[in-house]
Amino acid sequence: MTVSAAWDRLQSRLAELPERTLSELFSHDAQGGAARVAAMSQRIEADLGELGEIGMLLDWSKTHLDGAILDGFEELAQATGFDAARDALFSGGVVNPTEGRAATHGAMRGSGTDTDVEEAEALLARMGMLVGAIHDGALGPIKHVIHIGIGGSALGPALAIDALTRDLALVDVHVVSNIDGLALEQAFAACDPATTLIAVASKTFTTTETMTNAASALQWLAKNDVADPGGRVVALTANPEAAVEWGVDETRILPFPESVGGRYSLWSSIGFPVAMAVGMDDYSAMLAGAQAIDTHFREAQGRANGPLLAAFGDLYYSRIRGCQTRAVFAYDERLAMLPDYLQQLEMESNGKSADADGAPVAGPTAPVTWGGVGTDAQHAVFQLLHQGTHLIPVDFIAAIAPGDDLDPAHHRSLLMNCLAQGAALMAGKASGDLARHYPGDRPSAMFLLDDLDAASFGALIAFHEHRTFASAVLMGINPFDQFGVELGKAMAKSIESGEGEFDASTAALMAAAGL
Ligand code: F6P
Repeated sequence: MTVSAAWDRLQSRLAELPERTLSELFSHDAQGGAARVAAMSQRIEADLGELGEIGMLLDWSKTHLDGAILDGFEELAQATGFDAARDALFSGGVVNPTEGRAATHGAMRGSGTDTDVEEAEALLARMGMLVGAIHDGALGPIKHVIHIGIGGSALGPALAIDALTRDLALVDVHVVSNIDGLALEQAFAACDPATTLIAVASKTFTTTETMTNAASALQWLAKNDVADPGGRVVALTANPEAAVEWGVDETRILPFPESVGGRYSLWSSIGFPVAMAVGMDDYSAMLAGAQAIDTHFREAQGRANGPLLAAFGDLYYSRIRGCQTRAVFAYDERLAMLPDYLQQLEMESNGKSADADGAPVAGPTAPVTWGGVGTDAQHAVFQLLHQGTHLIPVDFIAAIAPGDDLDPAHHRSLLMNCLAQGAALMAGKASGDLARHYPGDRPSAMFLLDDLDAASFGALIAFHEHRTFASAVLMGINPFDQFGVELGKAMAKSIESGEGEFDASTAALMAAAGL
């Protein structure tokens, strides 16, 4: 059966079901909703031995999913070959057909073929040795790292460092991505050139922004009397030859396989600045937490599979209910950058119009992912969630253990606010005055982590990688290419070279900007 026929079948199946409100779904349940909560919640936990443990409670009961809808989605998963695609992901199959590649980010944390995992372990050991040597002073006293990369070569490290170093960072890391010189200047202002290491992170080692910033960072070291600026550069790349050509000594190049996609590369040497900041023990705990989710994703079947269930929810809202966005609110300052990270993961992976065979897709693909941090967002954008005209499924993410050392009243209030928002979105409040009427019936899912330590952080990110992959499989698309970013890059190059021909508007703007 084609993916499009499987979707037709699901749509007809769902059209026959009664469309129940969230309140009806709860009241339908003889136990006052408790049975629904039990059926639609799941705890994922794993003991990671010396590296700690992970535990997270996922609650999908405040979404419109129910047993009958999930039956339909499980049938869709079967018809679209989900099990085989999942096996292919972990067994080195070509899951990225347009580029003829496997996707081996799982192997970077121990989930893959023996050969891929062995290679990953050797690369990790090499990174661990370099991190240890730098911490021990092999490159002089290093107190700062300026990590230069963009997209997947920046967002993961920036998020992980922000999430995991609130208590203590072994070195001060600044992630610089933008070609806007202000970004690099800000990092320079915060660093002492005499004790700064430059990490150049680029899978291709050709990205204009990164190479321009890297060259300026070297000039900054030289201008500030660093005797051997090149000796202070570490390269993180899948193209080591280009790094050598650029002038990086082979001993300071940390390679990773071509089959690890940019937005899936936190687990590869792109994670070097994370390891520099948190140390190899916590970095290994992050990998182990991610691996625990790999194991869950590989083994759990149907709706018992957390990432697959999340994908069912995402597709139900985007394709059946027509939601064009999905929002993520972390009630935790340490995850303030998570929406940015998820934007790239989900939108660059699944924002496609062609299916994996090059035919037009059967329906809408990735919704726009957006979000923020609670409670701040409550006082900014939640008005629209509660009373606006859009239906927006929301994910709430919070940790039971506080990240701060202040009066427990802070964390208690944070968690209470988070739970109150989900309850209010669902219940609404009737009023004869339309301006004061809350329609309710607005869906949300809850991710409640026991704690936000390195292992749980790794688990949370891996969960979202697999959620994205599962959605792609169910839509029949390839999540591992990103040809859509190329045209803009090519146009920028034509503007720079002065060779391209442009429309009248762009030509006039170029003249106005002096380009
Ligand atoms: O332009 C998109 C992209 O290719 C992303 O997929 C990638 O994460 C980013 O650019 C950076 O690429 P690189 O790591 O090769 O510099």
